[in-house]
Amino acid sequence: MLLTPEQQAVLDGKKGETLQKVMRTIVMYGDIFGAEKLVPVTHPEGHFVTSFGISLMKPLFSTMEELIKADVHTIGKFTVDPRPLDYANVKCALLEKVAFKVMYGKQEEYEGQLKQVGLRDKDAFTCTAYLPEVGNVPKKGDVLSWAESSAVVYANSVLGARCNRNSGMLDLFGSIVGWVPYFGLVTDEGRRATWKVYVRTTKKPEAQVLGSAIGMKVTEDVPYVFGLDKFLGEELTDDVCAYLKDFGAATASNGAVGLYHIDRLTPEAKELGEGLITEDAKEYVIDDKELERVLKSYPVMWKNKDAKPSLCFIGCPHLTYGQLIGWTQTLSAALKETGRRKVAVRTVMTTAPEVKAKFMQTAEYKELMSMGVKVSSICPLMYTNNPMTKGRAIITNSNKLRTYSVARYCKDEKIAAILSGKEGV
Ligand code: F3S
Repeated sequence: MLLTPEQQAVLDGKKGETLQKVMRTIVMYGDIFGAEKLVPVTHPEGHFVTSFGISLMKPLFSTMEELIKADVHTIGKFTVDPRPLDYANVKCALLEKVAFKVMYGKQEEYEGQLKQVGLRDKDAFTCTAYLPEVGNVPKKGDVLSWAESSAVVYANSVLGARCNRNSGMLDLFGSIVGWVPYFGLVTDEGRRATWKVYVRTTKKPEAQVLGSAIGMKVTEDVPYVFGLDKFLGEELTDDVCAYLKDFGAATASNGAVGLYHIDRLTPEAKELGEGLITEDAKEYVIDDKELERVLKSYPVMWKNKDAKPSLCFIGCPHLTYGQLIGWTQTLSAALKETGRRKVAVRTVMTTAPEVKAKFMQTAEYKELMSMGVKVSSICPLMYTNNPMTKGRAIITNSNKLRTYSVARYCKDEKIAAILSGKEGV
């Protein structure tokens, strides 16, 4: 890899041993993927995936300690994925609490380490750092050192920023040295689409199922999607961005998509159109039947498949402000229909701390509380990552949560019907 004199000096240890190790890791990472150079991180605010102090991750804590001792920081303040626990809003049984205490025993200590290395503030815990309320918003063309698959795919696709699907620690290391390897989704060539996807459904597809179908088909490739503008329009409104957030998270978790283009809608598709597609691109047609096939292919992982759901998570990735308002209206109407005052299943909606603060000022917040719904800023996946919680019959409208846990996926409409007591699973 060709390094500038400044980069070479860091690699040679001229800025200290700790920075040398960090730089060596970044260079090795680039070498593995054939990067010919390192490029500057132009959006200094990082976003990191490792938000949880799992006691077993000893190398993480000792690396953080070494960075702190050497007085090494990130070039900008960073945000990080959601916290794993929130006992005030997501109640746990005593045994679950004991298990969580052991699992996430290092949480407080780790948060202290994050702060010393460059964490923005105590509210910087969300996977939707790119929302305006949270304010970690890259510009088109910005190069990032982020991780968290749902945030990376959003930044690449909807904002037009440039970032590879980094792992934990590499997100931090790139944000410390301020350079990332030039390969994959950082390059023009790596951003070209190798799949043409045609959406030919009769109505607007459920974002989470469409994303799942595309993710499973193209895996880590870049799809260019035709026909979605018919349902979403050609402007990135708040509603459209919320749809693309959920769609992207499903492509990234049910497959490993890091970037997608939506014809006439996302920034690079608007600018370059079909010029973004490679000549030998493969094709995938999605109609109502195909979406139904995908939906039916999800296994039910509950111990007792006929169990009554005992918990519902909505908001993985975290909900936008508009989605919180929308869900309140949907549930309110659904409960009126069945004559219930409260939801039939314990329900937790998750959102970024800043979005929750804004939502708490509204009449809808009071209404949602009166229906018995809780609003939290945890990561539902981290919460379900517990042997005892795994025994619960959890439903969710998140295809990411379904993929990584034993939670059962239901479409939005079905969730509303279950919560209102109109239907079972
Ligand atoms: Fe966010 Fe946790 Fe889901 S990080 S995308 S809420 S798995």
